[in-house]
Amino acid sequence: MGQSFAETYQEIENRVRTAYHSAVGKRRRELVTPALILDLDVAKRNIDFMATRLKSLHAKLRPHIKVQKNVQLAKMQVEAGAIGVCTATVWEAIVMSAGGIKDVLIANEVVGKEKLEALAQAAKSGDLTVTVDDARNAGELSSAVSKAGSKIDVILEIDVGMGRGGVRSSDQAVKLAQNVSKLPGLTFRGVQGYEGHCMLEPDREVRIRKARQAMDHLGEALNRLAESGFKCDIVSAGGTGTYDITGADPRVTEIQAGSYVFMDNFHGNLVPGFSRSLTVLGTVVIKHGDTIVFDCGRKSIGLDFVQGTMVDYPSYAARYFAEEHALFDVDEKCPLNLGDRMEFIPGYAPSTVNLYDAYHVVEDGVVTDIWPIIPRGPGHGGLLS
Ligand SMILES: Cc1ncc(COP(=O)(O)O)c(C=O)c1O
Repeated sequence: MGQSFAETYQEIENRVRTAYHSAVGKRRRELVTPALILDLDVAKRNIDFMATRLKSLHAKLRPHIKVQKNVQLAKMQVEAGAIGVCTATVWEAIVMSAGGIKDVLIANEVVGKEKLEALAQAAKSGDLTVTVDDARNAGELSSAVSKAGSKIDVILEIDVGMGRGGVRSSDQAVKLAQNVSKLPGLTFRGVQGYEGHCMLEPDREVRIRKARQAMDHLGEALNRLAESGFKCDIVSAGGTGTYDITGADPRVTEIQAGSYVFMDNFHGNLVPGFSRSLTVLGTVVIKHGDTIVFDCGRKSIGLDFVQGTMVDYPSYAARYFAEEHALFDVDEKCPLNLGDRMEFIPGYAPSTVNLYDAYHVVEDGVVTDIWPIIPRGPGHGGLLS
């Protein structure tokens, strides 16, 4: 038998920590660029702020760790009161579980033989829950856990208006719950209704209205499931853009917000009370007249919805971000010269983090630790090796 996921996780963690160790003790703007910086003082304040806000809301917090892909931060969130975490992929769930996080929900469907086998294997030692929206997938999941000799909790995804995952009607929800409850190795626990289509709404009043409509849709499914004898212990929904709206709904038991820990230019303008804790450090590598170019293009900064900006000079808009270059048009007031360093706020934090091996963890302006990003990238990141 090969080594366990916990052993592989530990091996990757040790390798990354060793590879970046020489940065420990340096000041945040002295690092080799591009470098990913986590300001731990700010992240802690964000975690505390969310924990305080949630005390006055109905739902508990289950942070979405696809944003950070890091066990150390997840542990801080749990210590601050989160009930567990949720993940986008089976690999992230395996990492969280191997790293010691109890109660891990994969807030997505897991499809494909290798992934189901890995999930079934990990369910032997971890407390895992997975989302399903399809009877065939539920059958394959049941076969995988039966074969591995494990068991797994299941929640149904209900589409609440986003049009991505989730059964499309309450009738389908009831049928799928009946199906799941008959399958060996699976335990029906509840539902997920992620209102992702509301997160981008800049007008708060419109966001509130849309998010409430989405939860009413989820409520219909909850009623139909209850009438058919299916009690939902877990009703999981919400994100950073709606945490205080959906979190106040008495039907919702947990909120899946993730980006609040970093914030980025996308979320920073939508939800007040949180500050930017994640930056990318770059260097001016070209300067001609009013054009300056940094060494941190799209391979260094995620820009899914909005552009990255300079921390010290936020008013200069980027002309464009190319693969390895970030071009800015500046004027005589900008003192940056060849070789100067600058930190950038990412457009979108989750797709930025995914590009790096590790966070340079900064406290009081100095790197105090290296925290690995595992799995790096979209896949298993070496977990299957
Ligand atoms: C299923 C699910 N839940 C929750 C979130 C919320 O994430 P965030 O708080 O980062 O907006 C996302 C984001 O994509 C998601 O896909």
